[in-house]
Amino acid sequence: ALAAGSSESRLAFDMVKANSLDTITVPTGYKWDLVASWGDPLFSNAPAFNGMTGGSGASQELAFGDHNDGMAFFAKNGKQVLAVNNEYTNEFTLHPNRDGGMPTTADDVRKNKAAHGVSIVEIDQRGGKWGIVQDSPYNRRITADTEMDITGPARGHKWMQTSEDPKGLVAKGTWNNCGNGQTPWGTYLTCEENFNGYFTANDKNYVMPDAFKRYGISTEGRYNWAMADSRFDLVKEPNEPNRFGYVVEIDPMDPTSRPKKRTALGRFKHENAEVTIASNGHVVVYLGDDERGEFLYRFVSKHKYLAGGNNLDLLEEGTLYVAKFHDNNRGEWLPLTPKTTGMTDAEIAIHTRMAASKVGATTMDRPEWVAAHPHKAEVYCSLTNNKNRGVKPNAGGDATPASGVNPRVKNNFGQIVRWMPMSGDHTHTEFKWDLFVLAGNPAVYDDAYAGSSNLNQDNMFNSPDGLKFDSKGLLWIQTDGNYSNEKEFKGQGNNQMLVGDPETGEIRRFLVGPKECEITGAAWNASRTTMFISVQHPGEKGNSHWPNGGMTVPRSSVIAISREDGAVIG
Ligand code: FEO
Ligand code: CA
Ligand code: CA
Ligand code: CA
Repeated sequence: ALAAGSSESRLAFDMVKANSLDTITVPTGYKWDLVASWGDPLFSNAPAFNGMTGGSGASQELAFGDHNDGMAFFAKNGKQVLAVNNEYTNEFTLHPNRDGGMPTTADDVRKNKAAHGVSIVEIDQRGGKWGIVQDSPYNRRITADTEMDITGPARGHKWMQTSEDPKGLVAKGTWNNCGNGQTPWGTYLTCEENFNGYFTANDKNYVMPDAFKRYGISTEGRYNWAMADSRFDLVKEPNEPNRFGYVVEIDPMDPTSRPKKRTALGRFKHENAEVTIASNGHVVVYLGDDERGEFLYRFVSKHKYLAGGNNLDLLEEGTLYVAKFHDNNRGEWLPLTPKTTGMTDAEIAIHTRMAASKVGATTMDRPEWVAAHPHKAEVYCSLTNNKNRGVKPNAGGDATPASGVNPRVKNNFGQIVRWMPMSGDHTHTEFKWDLFVLAGNPAVYDDAYAGSSNLNQDNMFNSPDGLKFDSKGLLWIQTDGNYSNEKEFKGQGNNQMLVGDPETGEIRRFLVGPKECEITGAAWNASRTTMFISVQHPGEKGNSHWPNGGMTVPRSSVIAISREDGAVIG
């Protein structure tokens, strides 16, 4: 192993040991602080956070949302803005007065919907500490009720038409916003992941369409929104679910702008949207569908990116491809077109999973975040875990045999795959691939479940999820896995963040999160002296008081990490 800080290693920090503490642990010489927590008011006329009640619908609409996830940093005209996803909610802290935590009144539903979506906040540093600039004109909440334009092939299609929107042009809201993307033209991409879990049907005669089954829609969504909004009742509004599961583009520096649903990027359980400009100028967006046995996708824009030109609608038109990984470390991108699928462009955009099944794509171990190397054509994707591989396909899905890129049948640990497009061209249809790391536990196993050779008892982890490259080409790896610290996970502690060197394969643990959280999302300020990350769902099973301590309720939060000497950290 390489010594910490030695000239041989680019990972110049002492590795943090795994632990199960209810706090954040960072390496010696680094510090962290809170930037924003669930319920922090964005405006001075909003009430202060109230942990006893979880606030009201009205207070939540003016406050930072819950369960923050992916994020991006924007700077313009001397202003610094963070756009942050609020993926879902901790019902037990949001509705602490409700048995079981479910919304039971119309105001509960209003509060729950407002805790979802995106929080856009101006931030600045005062006395060395980052925080929200209250009343900034950039502060904005985008929730499950914010109007947004449906763009691309699905716009106006009959499957998109509802009683509130008979032309199928304007959707209300976005939710379960998981990972994100950021475009070179200054917009934020927020990705709708488990959009299915919000719909219900209280009618024994309701027959679930096959197309809904493939997306995991059930008659028993967990949020009870239908009690106050008939859009979420499958019987009353049978097309509403077709309007979710997309990537939404937002201009965070124009608070009056309308978000745009980019249906050309397909409908599935979107993790993130990694944007890169190919050598020939086309925009390529890599997209994971986070479900056992689903697929990895690529969007290639029809038009080219022009620096200084008008690029605002490049994501409106293009071609979706789905990945096929061969066992010989080669792979190809299969286009989803009317010719290859027998479906129209609108049908491909709305029923993307079914289109991908028609061309014979490779079923994957839950594709989570994708990250593209900043200095060469090389792309990484977390395949977080899949305990069902080879057992049975998801409803209407394809068979899931173990294969080269998803090599283990009972995969509780996950792996990170990387691919290199031929000719260094992200629009090329062929690529080479290998596994950057196979996670595992070498203290418990001595077979494939011990993991790859760059994993050992000191740096082991399970369930890689968030991935982000820094400006130096180091890969930051965040986990969302089993934190029991028992049996096959013994010695792995809480969820964490590690850094990997793509050149050497070396991986070091940089941070350990508090109890029952996941670590996700990453962004840097312009000088790269601060790294922002999300600590999501601390205490999701009721066993954390992070970050406020004592007997307080746990709160998902964005934290800022910096070096004590103020030097660049990424
Ligand atoms: Fe929201 Fe796939 O993580
Ligand atoms: Ca994730
Ligand atoms: Ca998660
Ligand atoms: Ca995950």
